[in-house]
Amino acid sequence: MLLTTAQAAEDQRSPLLLNADERGHVLAEMRGFLIAVHGVLQAVQKDDPAAIAQAARKAGRAAAHAVPAGLRDKLPMQFKKLGSETHQRFDQLAMDAESLGDPSHSLQQLTELMGNCLACHDLYRIEVQP
Ligand code: HEC
Repeated sequence: MLLTTAQAAEDQRSPLLLNADERGHVLAEMRGFLIAVHGVLQAVQKDDPAAIAQAARKAGRAAAHAVPAGLRDKLPMQFKKLGSETHQRFDQLAMDAESLGDPSHSLQQLTELMGNCLACHDLYRIEVQP
């Protein structure tokens, strides 16, 4: 979506003041989320619960990259809460795909967990500080 200058000026999102490395860390994590979403959707389409679980686990807690100490201190509580809940929900989706074997349930869980993507994207933007 292209923002006009007026819209950009009205940006209501709170800035996260990060250095370039920290920004890189957060954005890499984000691309991992997007890859996992795509992987789950592909596996749902193939009606393959094992592949759903495998794709979802890639964004689970175990896969989350260790957050550098300095970055952890800069992130607001709400951000950390939404972030860790998102990893947990991917884990739950993986476990349920394995135990229930029901891709339509996985799809529902994916739709719900993506509410977290939207909520956090509404709240925060990154601003690089040297
Ligand atoms: C805890 C907060 C949070 C959650 C949860 C979250 N994001 Fe993000 N995401 C961000 C922030 C902050 C940015 C940077 C936005 C900016 O600076 O304009 C971002 C950026 C991104 C980007 C751009 C990456 C790049 O390299 O430029 C993608 C893709 C993305 N998010 C996908 C997702 C997906 C998919 C989910 C859910 C599965 C998700 N995010 C959940 C906070 C979050």
